[in-house]
Amino acid sequence: MRLDVVTIFPEYLAPLNVSLVGKAAARGQLDVRIHDLRGWTHDKHNTVDDTPYGGGPGMVMKPDPWGEALDEITGSDPDAEPVIVVPTPSGRPFTQELAVELSAKPWLVFTPARYEGIDRRVIDEYASRYDVREVSIGDYVLAGGEAPVLVMVEAIARLLPGVLGNAASHQDDSFAPGPMANLLEGPVYTKPPEWRGRGIPEVLLSGHHGKIARWRRDEAFRRTTANRPDLIETADPAAYDKKDREILSILGWAPGPDGRFGRSPEVVEE
Ligand code: ADE
Repeated sequence: MRLDVVTIFPEYLAPLNVSLVGKAAARGQLDVRIHDLRGWTHDKHNTVDDTPYGGGPGMVMKPDPWGEALDEITGSDPDAEPVIVVPTPSGRPFTQELAVELSAKPWLVFTPARYEGIDRRVIDEYASRYDVREVSIGDYVLAGGEAPVLVMVEAIARLLPGVLGNAASHQDDSFAPGPMANLLEGPVYTKPPEWRGRGIPEVLLSGHHGKIARWRRDEAFRRTTANRPDLIETADPAAYDKKDREILSILGWAPGPDGRFGRSPEVVEE
């Protein structure tokens, strides 16, 4: 996979040389190219921003440098079509599902902005030629899109074939599609068997794979009801088996008129 990032802070992307993403790049699984947007300015001060039309606070990134940068980068491989990913708090949410979709693309171009964002015409221009995704990593506003790029690249890169040591290790990820979809991963333990007087759940030592899987699923329900009740409330209850319904009942959840689960009224009132 080829990854281009255009930024006014190339050094902000240095972590892409480290750890999982860095190793994938060193192995040739990722071709990461960081570009300084100011390289496509032509004035003495390398200006990339200007005041917004219509007034208001802050500055807007000028279309000219972005247009020249994106023409050069997207035109650099006539045989490939990039997907352009624009980090912005106004975008669609970045989810595991989107990470999976983007991990199947051969080429991603990220355009992290500073200030109030990029002149809209740039997005419209490239959306007329390419697949452009405006994406938000969460409901908070950062000072720029560089940290979101680091977040997205890490989520995408670990899904590439051969990047994670153990391919099975993303199957149980919280949010991964499959039987554990819409459930948060439960707690994990390793050696030693006792630490500061604390043991580990006995079932994990039983060697009984069926019981262990069931215990993990119960723990996933405990964690999800506590931390992300919305994931249970909106889940298709057809995904829940008898034991799932038992643990949900123990946790104080019951099906409503439409079959979807919610906290039992008695429990809410307590
Ligand atoms: N730029 C600033 N805040 C952001 C966010 N939450 N997601 C993506 N890009 C951003």
